[in-house]
Amino acid sequence: MEILDKIKSRSAKIGVVGLGYVGLPLAVLNAKTGFPVIGFDEVAGKVERVNKGDNYISDVVDAELRQVVEEKRFRATTDFSDLHQCDIVLICVPTPLTRNKEPDISAIVSVLGHLTKYAHPNMLVVLESTTYPGTTEEVIMPALVAKGLTVGKDLFIAFSPERVDPGNKNFKTHNTFKLVGGVTASCREVAKAFYEQSIVKIFPLSSPRVAEMAKVFENVFRSVNIALVNELTMLCDRMNINVYEVIDAAATKNFGFMPFYPGPGVGGHCIPLDPYYLSWKSKEYDIHTRFIELAGEINENMPYFVMSKLQRILNQRGQCLKGANIVVLGVTYKADIEDPRESPATKVMELLQKEGACLKYVDPYTPNLNLEGHSYSAQPLHAELLRECACALILTAHSAFDYELICGHAPVVFDTRNGTRHVQHNRDKIVLLST
Ligand SMILES: NC(=O)c1ccc[n+]([C@@H]2O[C@H](COP(=O)([O-])OP(=O)(O)OC[C@H]3O[C@@H](n4cnc5c(N)ncnc54)[C@H](O)[C@@H]3O)[C@@H](O)[C@H]2O)c1
Repeated sequence: MEILDKIKSRSAKIGVVGLGYVGLPLAVLNAKTGFPVIGFDEVAGKVERVNKGDNYISDVVDAELRQVVEEKRFRATTDFSDLHQCDIVLICVPTPLTRNKEPDISAIVSVLGHLTKYAHPNMLVVLESTTYPGTTEEVIMPALVAKGLTVGKDLFIAFSPERVDPGNKNFKTHNTFKLVGGVTASCREVAKAFYEQSIVKIFPLSSPRVAEMAKVFENVFRSVNIALVNELTMLCDRMNINVYEVIDAAATKNFGFMPFYPGPGVGGHCIPLDPYYLSWKSKEYDIHTRFIELAGEINENMPYFVMSKLQRILNQRGQCLKGANIVVLGVTYKADIEDPRESPATKVMELLQKEGACLKYVDPYTPNLNLEGHSYSAQPLHAELLRECACALILTAHSAFDYELICGHAPVVFDTRNGTRHVQHNRDKIVLLST
């Protein structure tokens, strides 16, 4: 097959559509592997930055982006007509929810609009965006087949979910194992041959639907387990039991247990959203995925739990939330990354703001924050800021925080992430989610 020869000689031209947390690392990896790569994005500012070798995604190494751009192995464009030059197209656009928590695949549909114009024989098209089972065969395939191309013969279509975990120090795009489900056996063969060039292990599957379902299941699994430990935490709080000690104790079992940790809610572009893709689709089959809805309900309640516990902490000190100076530590959705999407920290801040609390925040990854009409600027972490507040509220436990300093100077520390676990002194000032 012509496309297989091009893959093996690494002369196939790769188009990566959507240069965000998923697409940019994938584009750089393929360029490093030796493929010529064109990145496509609808945001001109991102395209300009890429073409200057100016990195904006923390999982991408600055020097690696600069090198592949300088060596003309990678360029970016907003001109989708360049898709006609590409032999392989990887779709990495966002898949958010509508306000009513229904799948919004409009970005995929918009890319398809371009692809139907520029698709040509001997092309491989792979959807990497997370979506509901059926998208590749029900949405992507019919649109491309309408071009008169024959799937499995001169057009190859697959789904290969991106599983990358931004900020993970050990697992990056190249060593995160990859699932591949092709529409036909030859689609699978071509997609597998492509990913094998740059990714350490590929697992071929019988269909795109299995790959789509597996990806959503992975995220449902996390959402449900986090909800389980969040519920346990609320019970431990009532019973005055330290939930972290409970989790550590359970984790001593040498088989059959996997620890998950509580927090002020779930965030990011995956865990709070992806499960609803499945629950929406399941209704077509008269199934109501109750675990998904229940997990969502418990996780979405956590910011309210945090607020009511903060009220209790202040009350015990003869203070109330209205007018209290609260210093929030960490606002991104998880530690050590700059991604603010769906962050439970911002949800907690919005709730506190509504109750009249006076907020300041510290976050080395977020210089400014706009919350429902209020603008905030990040404060430097110093003793005076902490001494002057009513409570230091840790919502995202960045490793850059000086936890000894925080506990040394704040009158009380409400730590919703157990970021203070290694602090030796002033432990009497620390309140955890469950004690
Ligand atoms: N971020 C993660 O941790 C992660 C992990 C695994 C899977 N995913 C999935 O990967 C997909 C992409 O996520 P992301 O985090 O990279 O999103 P992102 O928002 O960081 O990046 C998406 C990019 O696509 C661009 N874009 C949007 N609409 C477009 C269009 N119509 N045409 C061209 N470009 C367009 C945006 O400008 C942006 O640069 C989603 O389906 C997500 O669920 C994300």
